[in-house]
Amino acid sequence: MSETTALWSGRFAEKPETQAFAFQSSITVDKRLAQDDIRGSRVHVAMLEKQGLIPPETAAALDKELLAIAEELENGSLHIDPSAEDIHSFIEGELTRRLGDAGRAVHAGRSRNDQVAVDFRLYLKRTIPALCDETRETVIVLLDKAEQYAEAIMPGYTHLQRAQPVTLGFHLAAWACGLKRDRERFFDALNRLDECPLGAGALAGSGLPLDRATTAKRLGFKRPTLNAMDSVADRDFVLELASAAAITQTHLSRFCEDIVIWASEEFKFIDLSEKWSTGSSIMPQKKNPDFAELIRGKAGRTTGNLVALLTLVKGLPYAYNKDLQEDKESLFDSLDTVALCLRMFRGMIGSAAFNTERMADACCGGFLEATDAADYLVRKGLPFRKAHEATALVVRDCIDAGQRRVVDRTLEQLKERSPLFDADVYDMLAPLACVRARKTLGGAAPDEARRQIAELRKDIENVPS
Ligand code: ARG
Repeated sequence: MSETTALWSGRFAEKPETQAFAFQSSITVDKRLAQDDIRGSRVHVAMLEKQGLIPPETAAALDKELLAIAEELENGSLHIDPSAEDIHSFIEGELTRRLGDAGRAVHAGRSRNDQVAVDFRLYLKRTIPALCDETRETVIVLLDKAEQYAEAIMPGYTHLQRAQPVTLGFHLAAWACGLKRDRERFFDALNRLDECPLGAGALAGSGLPLDRATTAKRLGFKRPTLNAMDSVADRDFVLELASAAAITQTHLSRFCEDIVIWASEEFKFIDLSEKWSTGSSIMPQKKNPDFAELIRGKAGRTTGNLVALLTLVKGLPYAYNKDLQEDKESLFDSLDTVALCLRMFRGMIGSAAFNTERMADACCGGFLEATDAADYLVRKGLPFRKAHEATALVVRDCIDAGQRRVVDRTLEQLKERSPLFDADVYDMLAPLACVRARKTLGGAAPDEARRQIAELRKDIENVPS
Protein backbone atom coordinates (compact mmCIF):
# COMPACT_ATOMS: atom_id res chain seq x y z
CA MET A 1 0.00 0.00 0.00
CA SER A 2 1.28 3.46 -0.85
CA GLU A 3 0.46 6.61 1.08
CA THR A 4 -3.25 6.07 0.38
CA THR A 5 -5.22 5.81 3.57
CA ALA A 6 -8.12 3.41 3.66
CA LEU A 7 -11.52 5.02 4.18
CA TRP A 8 -11.97 2.85 7.24
CA SER A 9 -8.54 3.40 8.83
CA GLY A 10 -9.94 5.31 11.83
CA ARG A 11 -11.11 2.11 13.47
CA PHE A 12 -7.64 0.56 13.33
CA ALA A 13 -4.55 1.25 15.38
CA GLU A 14 -2.42 -0.87 13.08
CA LYS A 15 -1.74 -0.36 9.40
CA PRO A 16 -2.93 -3.13 7.11
CA GLU A 17 -0.39 -5.70 6.02
CA THR A 18 0.68 -4.76 2.48
CA GLN A 19 -0.08 -8.08 0.80
CA ALA A 20 -3.37 -8.42 2.64
CA PHE A 21 -4.45 -4.96 1.56
CA ALA A 22 -3.49 -5.64 -2.02
CA PHE A 23 -5.38 -8.94 -1.95
CA GLN A 24 -8.67 -7.33 -0.97
CA SER A 25 -8.28 -4.38 -3.33
CA SER A 26 -10.39 -4.26 -6.51
CA ILE A 27 -9.04 -1.16 -8.21
CA THR A 28 -7.55 -3.02 -11.18
CA VAL A 29 -11.03 -4.24 -12.08
CA ASP A 30 -13.41 -1.53 -10.90
CA LYS A 31 -11.39 1.34 -12.35
CA ARG A 32 -13.71 0.91 -15.31
CA LEU A 33 -16.43 2.37 -13.15
CA ALA A 34 -14.61 5.68 -12.60
CA GLN A 35 -16.89 7.86 -14.72
CA ASP A 36 -19.99 6.18 -13.34
CA ASP A 37 -18.74 6.63 -9.79
CA ILE A 38 -18.22 10.34 -10.43
CA ARG A 39 -21.63 10.69 -12.00
CA GLY A 40 -23.23 9.01 -9.01
CA SER A 41 -21.30 11.25 -6.61
CA ARG A 42 -22.29 14.45 -8.41
CA VAL A 43 -25.96 13.59 -8.20
CA HIS A 44 -25.56 12.48 -4.59
CA VAL A 45 -23.89 15.79 -3.72
CA ALA A 46 -26.65 17.78 -5.42
CA MET A 47 -29.23 15.81 -3.46
CA LEU A 48 -27.37 16.33 -0.17
CA GLU A 49 -27.38 20.07 -0.82
CA LYS A 50 -31.06 20.15 -1.77
CA GLN A 51 -31.86 18.36 1.48
CA GLY A 52 -29.81 20.85 3.48
CA LEU A 53 -27.29 18.20 4.48
CA ILE A 54 -24.26 20.04 3.11
CA PRO A 55 -23.83 23.78 2.52
CA PRO A 56 -24.05 25.14 -1.05
CA GLU A 57 -20.34 26.14 -1.05
CA THR A 58 -19.33 22.58 -0.19
CA ALA A 59 -21.64 21.19 -2.85
CA ALA A 60 -20.29 23.61 -5.45
CA ALA A 61 -16.67 22.79 -4.58
CA LEU A 62 -17.37 19.07 -4.70
CA ASP A 63 -19.16 19.28 -8.01
CA LYS A 64 -16.42 21.34 -9.59
CA GLU A 65 -13.72 18.98 -8.39
CA LEU A 66 -15.64 15.86 -9.40
CA LEU A 67 -15.98 17.31 -12.86
CA ALA A 68 -12.28 18.15 -12.93
CA ILE A 69 -11.36 14.60 -11.86
CA ALA A 70 -13.61 13.19 -14.58
CA GLU A 71 -11.92 15.33 -17.21
CA GLU A 72 -8.42 14.62 -15.97
CA LEU A 73 -9.09 10.89 -16.04
CA GLU A 74 -10.51 11.24 -19.53
CA ASN A 75 -7.57 13.22 -20.93
CA GLY A 76 -5.00 11.11 -19.12
CA SER A 77 -3.56 13.83 -16.88
CA LEU A 78 -4.76 11.96 -13.77
CA HIS A 79 -3.83 8.31 -13.31
CA ILE A 80 -5.77 5.94 -11.15
CA ASP A 81 -3.56 4.90 -8.28
CA PRO A 82 -3.16 1.11 -8.58
CA SER A 83 -2.56 0.86 -4.86
CA ALA A 84 -5.92 2.39 -3.96
CA GLU A 85 -8.42 0.01 -2.42
CA ASP A 86 -11.14 0.53 -5.00
CA ILE A 87 -12.48 3.17 -7.34
CA HIS A 88 -14.76 4.65 -4.68
CA SER A 89 -11.87 5.12 -2.23
CA PHE A 90 -9.69 6.55 -4.96
CA ILE A 91 -12.16 9.24 -6.01
CA GLU A 92 -13.10 10.17 -2.46
CA GLY A 93 -9.39 10.24 -1.62
CA GLU A 94 -8.74 12.61 -4.53
CA LEU A 95 -11.55 14.90 -3.39
CA THR A 96 -10.17 15.03 0.13
CA ARG A 97 -6.62 15.56 -1.08
CA ARG A 98 -7.79 18.48 -3.20
CA LEU A 99 -10.53 19.98 -1.02
CA GLY A 100 -9.84 18.93 2.56
CA ASP A 101 -12.99 18.87 4.66
CA ALA A 102 -15.31 19.50 1.72
CA GLY A 103 -14.05 16.21 0.27
CA ARG A 104 -14.83 14.49 3.54
CA ALA A 105 -18.50 15.56 3.23
CA VAL A 106 -19.33 13.54 0.12
CA HIS A 107 -20.04 10.19 1.75
CA ALA A 108 -22.93 11.33 3.98
CA GLY A 109 -25.88 8.94 3.77
CA ARG A 110 -24.07 6.51 1.49
CA SER A 111 -22.01 3.35 1.78
CA ARG A 112 -19.70 1.77 -0.71
CA ASN A 113 -22.27 -1.02 -0.80
CA ASP A 114 -24.94 1.10 -2.48
CA GLN A 115 -22.25 3.06 -4.31
CA VAL A 116 -20.84 0.01 -6.08
CA ALA A 117 -24.35 -1.20 -6.83
CA VAL A 118 -25.29 2.09 -8.51
CA ASP A 119 -21.95 2.40 -10.32
CA PHE A 120 -22.25 -1.07 -11.76
CA ARG A 121 -25.79 -0.46 -12.97
CA LEU A 122 -24.86 2.91 -14.49
CA TYR A 123 -21.92 1.28 -16.27
CA LEU A 124 -24.13 -1.44 -17.70
CA LYS A 125 -26.81 1.01 -18.80
CA ARG A 126 -24.08 3.00 -20.53
CA THR A 127 -22.27 0.13 -22.25
CA ILE A 128 -24.78 -2.63 -22.99
CA PRO A 129 -26.46 -0.66 -25.81
CA ALA A 130 -23.15 -0.85 -27.72
CA LEU A 131 -23.19 -4.62 -27.30
CA CYS A 132 -26.77 -4.66 -28.60
CA ASP A 133 -25.52 -2.67 -31.60
CA GLU A 134 -22.83 -5.28 -32.23
CA THR A 135 -25.55 -7.90 -32.19
CA ARG A 136 -27.72 -5.87 -34.57
CA GLU A 137 -24.85 -5.32 -36.99
CA THR A 138 -24.11 -9.03 -36.96
CA VAL A 139 -27.72 -9.88 -37.67
CA ILE A 140 -27.71 -7.42 -40.58
CA VAL A 141 -24.62 -9.06 -42.10
CA LEU A 142 -26.32 -12.45 -41.77
CA LEU A 143 -29.50 -11.14 -43.37
CA ASP A 144 -27.59 -9.59 -46.27
CA LYS A 145 -25.93 -12.94 -46.92
CA ALA A 146 -29.25 -14.73 -46.44
CA GLU A 147 -30.82 -12.57 -49.12
CA GLN A 148 -27.89 -13.11 -51.46
CA TYR A 149 -28.27 -16.87 -51.10
CA ALA A 150 -32.06 -17.01 -50.85
CA GLU A 151 -32.27 -19.51 -53.74
CA ALA A 152 -29.08 -21.45 -53.01
CA ILE A 153 -30.19 -24.94 -52.08
CA MET A 154 -28.26 -27.04 -49.63
CA PRO A 155 -28.99 -30.00 -47.40
CA GLY A 156 -30.63 -29.30 -44.08
CA TYR A 157 -29.35 -31.65 -41.37
CA THR A 158 -30.69 -33.38 -38.32
CA HIS A 159 -28.23 -35.55 -36.37
CA LEU A 160 -25.75 -34.19 -38.90
CA GLN A 161 -27.36 -36.52 -41.42
CA ARG A 162 -28.88 -35.11 -44.58
CA ALA A 163 -32.53 -34.53 -43.74
CA GLN A 164 -34.40 -32.25 -46.15
CA PRO A 165 -33.25 -29.71 -48.70
CA VAL A 166 -33.26 -26.08 -47.54
CA THR A 167 -31.53 -22.94 -48.78
CA LEU A 168 -28.50 -21.24 -47.36
CA GLY A 169 -30.65 -18.13 -46.97
CA PHE A 170 -33.04 -20.05 -44.76
CA HIS A 171 -30.19 -21.52 -42.71
CA LEU A 172 -28.61 -18.10 -42.14
CA ALA A 173 -32.01 -16.64 -41.23
CA ALA A 174 -32.24 -19.34 -38.54
CA TRP A 175 -28.98 -18.08 -37.06
CA ALA A 176 -30.24 -14.51 -37.23
CA CYS A 177 -33.38 -15.48 -35.25
CA GLY A 178 -31.19 -16.64 -32.37
CA LEU A 179 -29.08 -13.49 -32.32
CA LYS A 180 -32.16 -11.32 -32.50
CA ARG A 181 -33.48 -12.93 -29.33
CA ASP A 182 -30.05 -12.54 -27.70
CA ARG A 183 -30.23 -8.82 -28.32
CA GLU A 184 -33.69 -8.70 -26.78
CA ARG A 185 -32.41 -10.58 -23.73
CA PHE A 186 -29.83 -7.83 -23.11
CA PHE A 187 -32.48 -5.13 -23.40
CA ASP A 188 -34.75 -7.15 -21.12
CA ALA A 189 -32.09 -7.35 -18.43
CA LEU A 190 -31.37 -3.62 -18.83
CA ASN A 191 -35.02 -2.88 -18.35
CA ARG A 192 -35.14 -4.83 -15.10
CA LEU A 193 -31.96 -3.36 -13.66
CA ASP A 194 -33.16 0.18 -14.32
CA GLU A 195 -33.73 0.98 -10.63
CA CYS A 196 -31.47 3.14 -8.51
CA PRO A 197 -29.96 1.56 -5.39
CA LEU A 198 -28.24 4.75 -4.20
CA GLY A 199 -29.47 5.78 -0.77
CA ALA A 200 -29.80 2.18 0.38
CA GLY A 201 -26.70 2.84 2.48
CA ALA A 202 -24.91 -0.13 3.95
CA LEU A 203 -28.10 -2.20 4.01
CA ALA A 204 -30.91 -0.45 5.86
CA GLY A 205 -31.38 2.99 4.33
CA SER A 206 -30.44 6.16 6.14
CA GLY A 207 -31.48 8.19 9.16
CA LEU A 208 -30.61 11.30 7.17
CA PRO A 209 -33.45 12.82 5.14
CA LEU A 210 -32.22 11.67 1.71
CA ASP A 211 -34.38 12.14 -1.36
CA ARG A 212 -33.91 8.88 -3.21
CA ALA A 213 -36.53 9.65 -5.83
CA THR A 214 -34.63 12.73 -6.95
CA THR A 215 -31.34 10.83 -7.01
CA ALA A 216 -32.90 8.09 -9.12
CA LYS A 217 -34.44 10.57 -11.53
CA ARG A 218 -31.30 12.64 -11.96
CA LEU A 219 -29.23 9.53 -12.63
CA GLY A 220 -31.69 8.54 -15.35
CA PHE A 221 -33.18 5.52 -13.60
CA LYS A 222 -36.84 4.64 -13.92
CA ARG A 223 -37.26 4.59 -10.13
CA PRO A 224 -35.43 3.93 -6.85
CA THR A 225 -35.12 0.31 -5.74
CA LEU A 226 -37.84 -0.81 -3.35
CA ASN A 227 -35.88 -2.34 -0.49
CA ALA A 228 -32.51 -1.21 0.82
CA MET A 229 -31.31 -4.66 1.82
CA ASP A 230 -32.16 -6.13 -1.57
CA SER A 231 -30.42 -3.17 -3.22
CA VAL A 232 -27.02 -4.04 -1.80
CA ALA A 233 -27.34 -7.82 -1.55
CA ASP A 234 -28.83 -8.53 -4.94
CA ARG A 235 -26.81 -9.37 -8.00
CA ASP A 236 -29.44 -11.02 -10.14
CA PHE A 237 -28.93 -8.32 -12.78
CA VAL A 238 -25.35 -9.57 -13.09
CA LEU A 239 -26.52 -13.16 -13.36
CA GLU A 240 -29.05 -12.24 -16.03
CA LEU A 241 -26.51 -10.41 -18.15
CA ALA A 242 -23.90 -13.13 -17.73
CA SER A 243 -26.56 -15.58 -18.81
CA ALA A 244 -27.53 -13.47 -21.83
CA ALA A 245 -23.84 -13.28 -22.73
CA ALA A 246 -23.34 -17.02 -22.30
CA ILE A 247 -26.38 -17.76 -24.47
CA THR A 248 -25.18 -15.38 -27.20
CA GLN A 249 -21.74 -16.95 -27.15
CA THR A 250 -23.31 -20.42 -27.22
CA HIS A 251 -25.21 -19.40 -30.34
CA LEU A 252 -22.00 -18.14 -31.92
CA SER A 253 -20.28 -21.40 -31.01
CA ARG A 254 -22.94 -23.35 -32.88
CA PHE A 255 -22.77 -21.14 -35.97
CA CYS A 256 -19.00 -21.55 -35.89
CA GLU A 257 -19.31 -25.30 -35.62
CA ASP A 258 -21.39 -25.25 -38.80
CA ILE A 259 -18.71 -23.11 -40.43
CA VAL A 260 -15.89 -25.42 -39.36
CA ILE A 261 -17.79 -28.37 -40.82
CA TRP A 262 -18.62 -26.48 -44.02
CA ALA A 263 -14.98 -25.45 -44.42
CA SER A 264 -13.77 -29.07 -44.38
CA GLU A 265 -12.63 -30.74 -47.59
CA GLU A 266 -15.47 -33.23 -47.08
CA PHE A 267 -18.12 -30.49 -47.24
CA LYS A 268 -16.43 -27.57 -48.96
CA PHE A 269 -19.59 -25.47 -48.74
CA ILE A 270 -17.81 -22.35 -47.55
CA ASP A 271 -14.67 -20.64 -48.73
CA LEU A 272 -13.41 -18.45 -45.90
CA SER A 273 -11.51 -15.38 -46.97
CA GLU A 274 -7.75 -15.72 -46.62
CA LYS A 275 -7.89 -12.64 -44.44
CA TRP A 276 -10.00 -14.61 -42.01
CA SER A 277 -8.07 -17.88 -42.05
CA THR A 278 -4.69 -19.06 -40.84
CA GLY A 279 -2.12 -21.53 -42.09
CA SER A 280 -0.04 -24.30 -40.57
CA SER A 281 3.61 -24.07 -39.62
CA ILE A 282 4.23 -27.58 -40.89
CA MET A 283 1.53 -28.51 -43.39
CA PRO A 284 1.90 -26.18 -46.35
CA GLN A 285 -1.54 -26.93 -47.78
CA LYS A 286 -3.55 -25.89 -44.71
CA LYS A 287 -6.09 -23.09 -44.56
CA ASN A 288 -7.62 -23.34 -41.13
CA PRO A 289 -10.87 -21.85 -39.83
CA ASP A 290 -9.11 -20.68 -36.64
CA PHE A 291 -11.43 -17.73 -36.10
CA ALA A 292 -14.49 -19.95 -36.07
CA GLU A 293 -12.72 -22.35 -33.72
CA LEU A 294 -11.64 -19.61 -31.36
CA ILE A 295 -15.11 -18.07 -31.19
CA ARG A 296 -16.49 -21.56 -30.55
CA GLY A 297 -13.88 -22.08 -27.86
CA LYS A 298 -14.64 -18.83 -26.08
CA ALA A 299 -18.07 -20.17 -25.19
CA GLY A 300 -16.18 -22.08 -22.49
CA ARG A 301 -15.17 -18.77 -20.98
CA THR A 302 -18.65 -17.22 -20.94
CA THR A 303 -20.21 -20.41 -19.55
CA GLY A 304 -17.44 -20.49 -16.96
CA ASN A 305 -18.15 -16.89 -15.96
CA LEU A 306 -21.85 -17.62 -15.57
CA VAL A 307 -21.16 -20.66 -13.41
CA ALA A 308 -18.60 -18.67 -11.40
CA LEU A 309 -21.17 -15.95 -10.75
CA LEU A 310 -23.96 -18.32 -9.78
CA THR A 311 -21.55 -20.08 -7.45
CA LEU A 312 -20.40 -16.75 -6.04
CA VAL A 313 -23.90 -15.66 -5.09
CA LYS A 314 -25.20 -19.06 -4.01
CA GLY A 315 -25.60 -19.36 -0.26
CA LEU A 316 -24.42 -15.82 0.52
CA PRO A 317 -26.07 -14.55 3.69
CA TYR A 318 -27.95 -11.27 3.35
CA ALA A 319 -26.93 -8.51 2.81
CA TYR A 320 -23.57 -7.35 1.36
CA ASN A 321 -20.53 -9.61 1.56
CA LYS A 322 -17.11 -8.92 0.13
CA ASP A 323 -17.50 -11.98 -2.07
CA LEU A 324 -19.65 -9.76 -4.28
CA GLN A 325 -16.59 -7.75 -5.28
CA GLU A 326 -15.71 -10.71 -7.52
CA ASP A 327 -18.79 -10.17 -9.67
CA LYS A 328 -17.37 -7.45 -11.90
CA GLU A 329 -14.39 -9.28 -13.33
CA SER A 330 -16.53 -12.18 -14.55
CA LEU A 331 -19.23 -10.05 -16.09
CA PHE A 332 -16.79 -7.61 -17.72
CA ASP A 333 -14.98 -10.56 -19.23
CA SER A 334 -18.20 -12.09 -20.58
CA LEU A 335 -19.41 -8.83 -22.08
CA ASP A 336 -16.00 -8.05 -23.61
CA THR A 337 -15.75 -11.55 -25.02
CA VAL A 338 -19.17 -11.47 -26.65
CA ALA A 339 -18.66 -7.99 -28.14
CA LEU A 340 -15.32 -9.01 -29.62
CA CYS A 341 -16.59 -12.35 -30.93
CA LEU A 342 -19.61 -10.73 -32.57
CA ARG A 343 -17.26 -8.41 -34.42
CA MET A 344 -14.93 -11.23 -35.43
CA PHE A 345 -17.80 -13.45 -36.50
CA ARG A 346 -19.23 -10.67 -38.62
CA GLY A 347 -15.93 -10.09 -40.39
CA MET A 348 -15.47 -13.78 -41.02
CA ILE A 349 -18.95 -14.54 -42.34
CA GLY A 350 -19.28 -11.25 -44.21
CA SER A 351 -16.15 -11.96 -46.25
CA ALA A 352 -16.85 -15.64 -46.88
CA ALA A 353 -17.92 -17.04 -50.23
CA PHE A 354 -20.21 -20.03 -50.57
CA ASN A 355 -19.81 -22.87 -52.99
CA THR A 356 -23.37 -23.08 -54.28
CA GLU A 357 -22.54 -25.92 -56.66
CA ARG A 358 -21.19 -28.13 -53.89
CA MET A 359 -24.21 -27.34 -51.76
CA ALA A 360 -26.64 -28.16 -54.56
CA ASP A 361 -24.77 -31.37 -55.40
CA ALA A 362 -25.01 -32.43 -51.77
CA CYS A 363 -28.80 -32.36 -52.12
CA CYS A 364 -28.57 -35.32 -54.50
CA GLY A 365 -27.90 -38.52 -52.64
CA GLY A 366 -28.89 -39.17 -49.09
CA PHE A 367 -32.60 -39.26 -50.02
CA LEU A 368 -33.40 -35.75 -48.82
CA GLU A 369 -36.52 -35.94 -50.99
CA ALA A 370 -37.95 -38.95 -49.14
CA THR A 371 -40.31 -36.87 -46.96
CA ASP A 372 -41.59 -35.18 -50.11
CA ALA A 373 -42.17 -38.57 -51.73
CA ALA A 374 -44.24 -39.58 -48.71
CA ASP A 375 -46.09 -36.22 -48.79
CA TYR A 376 -46.80 -36.86 -52.48
CA LEU A 377 -48.62 -40.06 -51.52
CA VAL A 378 -50.45 -38.25 -48.69
CA ARG A 379 -51.73 -35.74 -51.23
CA LYS A 380 -53.05 -38.68 -53.20
CA GLY A 381 -55.01 -39.80 -50.16
CA LEU A 382 -52.73 -42.32 -48.46
CA PRO A 383 -52.53 -42.10 -44.63
CA PHE A 384 -49.12 -40.69 -43.70
CA ARG A 385 -47.83 -43.79 -41.86
CA LYS A 386 -48.57 -45.93 -44.94
CA ALA A 387 -46.95 -43.34 -47.19
CA HIS A 388 -43.90 -43.37 -44.90
CA GLU A 389 -43.67 -47.15 -45.13
CA ALA A 390 -44.06 -47.23 -48.92
CA THR A 391 -41.36 -44.57 -49.32
CA ALA A 392 -39.06 -46.36 -46.88
CA LEU A 393 -39.34 -49.44 -49.07
CA VAL A 394 -38.48 -47.36 -52.14
CA VAL A 395 -35.40 -46.08 -50.28
CA ARG A 396 -34.41 -49.65 -49.44
CA ASP A 397 -34.89 -50.66 -53.09
CA CYS A 398 -32.59 -47.79 -54.10
CA ILE A 399 -29.92 -48.79 -51.58
CA ASP A 400 -30.08 -52.43 -52.74
CA ALA A 401 -29.74 -51.30 -56.35
CA GLY A 402 -26.89 -48.85 -55.56
CA GLN A 403 -29.08 -45.86 -56.47
CA ARG A 404 -28.85 -42.51 -54.65
CA ARG A 405 -32.21 -40.88 -55.33
CA VAL A 406 -35.86 -41.85 -55.29
CA VAL A 407 -36.13 -40.58 -58.88
CA ASP A 408 -33.55 -43.16 -59.98
CA ARG A 409 -36.38 -45.72 -59.81
CA THR A 410 -38.56 -46.24 -62.87
CA LEU A 411 -42.24 -45.46 -62.53
CA GLU A 412 -42.94 -49.18 -62.74
CA GLN A 413 -40.61 -49.86 -59.85
CA LEU A 414 -42.16 -47.04 -57.80
CA LYS A 415 -45.63 -48.39 -58.48
CA GLU A 416 -44.57 -51.73 -56.99
CA ARG A 417 -44.37 -49.89 -53.64
CA SER A 418 -47.44 -47.75 -54.19
CA PRO A 419 -49.76 -47.64 -57.18
CA LEU A 420 -50.39 -43.98 -56.36
CA PHE A 421 -47.02 -42.94 -57.80
CA ASP A 422 -47.40 -41.23 -61.18
CA ALA A 423 -45.11 -39.62 -63.72
CA ASP A 424 -45.51 -36.15 -62.11
CA VAL A 425 -43.59 -37.39 -59.06
CA TYR A 426 -40.25 -36.93 -60.87
CA ASP A 427 -40.60 -33.15 -61.15
CA MET A 428 -41.86 -32.81 -57.64
CA LEU A 429 -38.87 -34.55 -56.11
CA ALA A 430 -36.22 -32.28 -57.62
CA PRO A 431 -34.42 -30.63 -54.63
CA LEU A 432 -35.44 -27.11 -55.62
CA ALA A 433 -39.05 -28.26 -56.05
CA CYS A 434 -38.96 -29.81 -52.58
CA VAL A 435 -37.74 -26.53 -51.07
CA ARG A 436 -40.22 -24.43 -53.05
CA ALA A 437 -43.06 -26.60 -51.77
CA ARG A 438 -42.28 -25.73 -48.13
CA LYS A 439 -44.39 -22.61 -48.09
CA THR A 440 -45.85 -23.01 -44.63
CA LEU A 441 -45.25 -20.15 -42.20
CA GLY A 442 -41.65 -20.40 -41.12
CA GLY A 443 -40.87 -22.87 -43.91
CA ALA A 444 -37.80 -23.05 -46.14
CA ALA A 445 -39.42 -21.94 -49.44
CA PRO A 446 -37.34 -19.03 -50.82
CA ASP A 447 -40.25 -16.58 -50.82
CA GLU A 448 -41.21 -17.54 -47.30
CA ALA A 449 -37.58 -17.25 -46.16
CA ARG A 450 -37.45 -13.80 -47.78
CA ARG A 451 -40.50 -12.83 -45.75
CA GLN A 452 -38.72 -14.04 -42.59
CA ILE A 453 -35.63 -12.04 -43.53
CA ALA A 454 -37.74 -8.91 -44.05
CA GLU A 455 -39.40 -9.40 -40.67
CA LEU A 456 -36.05 -9.89 -38.96
CA ARG A 457 -34.79 -6.69 -40.59
CA LYS A 458 -37.73 -4.79 -39.15
CA ASP A 459 -37.34 -6.33 -35.67
CA ILE A 460 -33.65 -5.69 -35.44
CA GLU A 461 -34.10 -1.94 -35.94
CA ASN A 462 -36.43 -1.77 -32.93
CA VAL A 463 -35.34 -1.13 -29.40
CA PRO A 464 -37.58 -3.47 -27.45
CA SER A 465 -39.07 -1.93 -24.32
N1 ARG B 1 -14.94 -2.79 -3.82
C1 ARG B 1 -16.14 -3.20 -3.16
C2 ARG B 1 -16.97 -4.10 -4.13
O1 ARG B 1 -16.71 -4.09 -5.26
C3 ARG B 1 -16.96 -2.01 -2.79
C4 ARG B 1 -17.87 -2.26 -1.65
C5 ARG B 1 -17.09 -2.43 -0.41
N2 ARG B 1 -17.95 -2.55 0.73
C6 ARG B 1 -17.52 -2.99 1.91
N3 ARG B 1 -18.40 -3.08 2.85
N4 ARG B 1 -16.29 -3.41 2.08
O2 ARG B 1 -17.83 -4.82 -3.68
